[in-house]
Amino acid sequence: MIRIDKNESPYRALTESEIAQIAIDTHFNEYAENEYEHLQQSYAAYNNLDPELLAFANGSDEWIQKAMIVLGEGPILILDPDFVMYEEYARQFDRKLVKVSCQKNWTFDYEEVYKHIKELRPSVFIFSQPNNPLGTLHPQAFIDKAAELMQEAGGYFIIDEAYGEFIEDQVSYPQGDHVIRFRTLSKVYGLAGLRVGVAISTALTMERLNSIAHPYPLNTFSLNMANYLLNQGNRLTRFIDMNRDLSKKLLRIFKEEVGDVIDILDSHTNFVFTYGDKAADLGKHVQANGFRPRMYPEAELTDLRKTVRYSIAKDEQLDELRQIIKDWRAMQ
Ligand SMILES: Cc1ncc(COP(=O)(O)O)c(C=O)c1O
Repeated sequence: MIRIDKNESPYRALTESEIAQIAIDTHFNEYAENEYEHLQQSYAAYNNLDPELLAFANGSDEWIQKAMIVLGEGPILILDPDFVMYEEYARQFDRKLVKVSCQKNWTFDYEEVYKHIKELRPSVFIFSQPNNPLGTLHPQAFIDKAAELMQEAGGYFIIDEAYGEFIEDQVSYPQGDHVIRFRTLSKVYGLAGLRVGVAISTALTMERLNSIAHPYPLNTFSLNMANYLLNQGNRLTRFIDMNRDLSKKLLRIFKEEVGDVIDILDSHTNFVFTYGDKAADLGKHVQANGFRPRMYPEAELTDLRKTVRYSIAKDEQLDELRQIIKDWRAMQ
């Protein structure tokens, strides 16, 4: 079964001999020394950031969990649908959770979100940009306005940019101690299993997020692998471009082969979200033919239960997927 349900990179960015050499050079019998700082430097240099204002944890998952522990005691505001773990981590710490659900056409009523911020005064408003599972982007005007309202409410505004590298337009970020960005090396960098998540904010807020940090937040092998990759800017950029090309190919396949009978959202990520009367049937057909997409039988939003999300696969696997989808279309 080929997994296309977790939005990973289908390839590793490094060769087997490089990986072996990094393992040999990693003195994991000792505690880390400067490895964390090296990755701070290389990640900041590649992404044009201040190394002092970013930190790492075991995946952005760990950052989300930490946010639920250290960022105030009031309610958590999220959108629905969005990344399922926001809700899970809020539950773990008994945080009151309020959701603003999307409309029938999978867009959000932003006025409704503003109203919730003003009335609820949440400690945290977290959302993914682009959205997982929809793959769509929230408009810049919403980001700016919601950030401003969260500041007035005295809460934190968290932009989870797990798929941020797939956004092609210029992005600008609201500023201030209340703004936090989470990024990850799990998607476009191809390091999901190594668990490297990034948090970016001001010195004051980074101190708060790190107030419950472990002395050695990440294992040395992950730090060294990520650092090695980030020190090869040109190669990494080509790898990221390849992931973007696969994403465009995936979207093209769906639009060309079944765009007339399946509803497909325009994706700014490495996955494609499908809905409409026949989406679940196509999902089952794809699954019966060796690819495992993401379905949502457990979703609270009933409309989501009939949708299917497909993430990228290797180039030749996408050709295989195209044929499977084509065969399904021929049977309609
Ligand atoms: C929106 C979003 N945030 C966070 C994560 C978690 O990423 P990580 O592997 O860094 O924990 C994911 C993973 O799918 C995601 O889709």
